Amino acid sequence: MSGKGNLLGLFIFVGVQTYKQYKWKNAFVLGLLIFVVVQAIRTFRWNHVKLNFAGKTVFISGGSSGLGEEMCKQMIRLGAKKIIIAARRVDELERVKRESGAPEKVQVLQLDLSQPHDVLEKCTSLFANEKVDILVNNGGISQRDCFEDLGFDVCQKMMNVNCLSHIAVIKACLPGMMERKQGKIVNILSGSGIVALPMRTMYSSSKFALSGFGKALRAEVKPHGISVIQTYPDYIRTNISANAMTGDGTKFGKLDPNIAKGMACDEAASQTLKAIQLNISEFILGGFIMQMAPYLSVS
Ligand SMILES: NC(=O)c1ccc[n+]([C@@H]2O[C@H](COP(=O)([O-])OP(=O)(O)OC[C@H]3O[C@@H](n4cnc5c(N)ncnc54)[C@H](OP(=O)(O)O)[C@@H]3O)[C@@H](O)[C@H]2O)c1
Repeated sequence: MSGKGNLLGLFIFVGVQTYKQYKWKNAFVLGLLIFVVVQAIRTFRWNHVKLNFAGKTVFISGGSSGLGEEMCKQMIRLGAKKIIIAARRVDELERVKRESGAPEKVQVLQLDLSQPHDVLEKCTSLFANEKVDILVNNGGISQRDCFEDLGFDVCQKMMNVNCLSHIAVIKACLPGMMERKQGKIVNILSGSGIVALPMRTMYSSSKFALSGFGKALRAEVKPHGISVIQTYPDYIRTNISANAMTGDGTKFGKLDPNIAKGMACDEAASQTLKAIQLNISEFILGGFIMQMAPYLSVS
């Protein structure tokens, strides 16, 4: 989206300047030409990028299932040196490690994102000894209830898991990246972080909040060689709806029809890895309607 913003700025600037000299018709044609050329270059880069994570040390929260699990397995196949996967369920993390194809490269960390202070403490000691190149803030929990039925504890948990603990992980990891003058911070957000939908009040709030944080942080850390990459996926076939919280904090326990019809998890993971490798600041993962979401978000 910021890329599109820059492009739009350039388009308007060139258009106005050219209009002053050559009148509307020529200005429009030139602007259109620039737009088409830039889009063609972008599409070419996207279609021809060769994924390679050789030598990279990566941290992935929410690595015990779904998108996090799949990103871990693909990054191992693409040459990553070491991947630290974090979540609450150690048995599931151990399964991902066994199935990764290179268990010696995978380290498991038990981490509960609902406890931001503990997360900060654990991650500070972890990153004191680990030089992480790519930090993927992926762990998350969704919501399936109206706000009026949502207990306040549930509201707080949603903000802690989806937003504040990711900020804690970044807080712990950033000093090392600043020192080394390189690093990528990846926030896995959601379409609900662009368009706010009913039954997702706190989920949307947490994703919008992390999105805003990431955009502000990007401007601060870019001069230090660090990029902030944020992805906004549409529906992906994972356990997200089954694990979603209802108003009293219990699990929803069902697969939503939208999730069942969503993008395959391996495809979502490989597109996310492309966005990471190509350093795409704001990446919308989904079809045409999702791409239009930023322009339609007026509800
Ligand atoms: N699937 C979709 O349609 C979709 C769409 C847009 C965005 N997303 C985002 O994609 C990310 C991954 O979700 P997914 O689809 O892969 O769902 P998932 O299969 O339910 O995975 C969620 C991951 O988050 C971890 N997690 C949840 N609560 C946690 C906690 N309190 N502490 C630590 N880890 C916790 C889970 O591990 P443990 O249970 O072991 O702790 C699990 O590894 C989320 O941020 C989600 O919001 C998903």
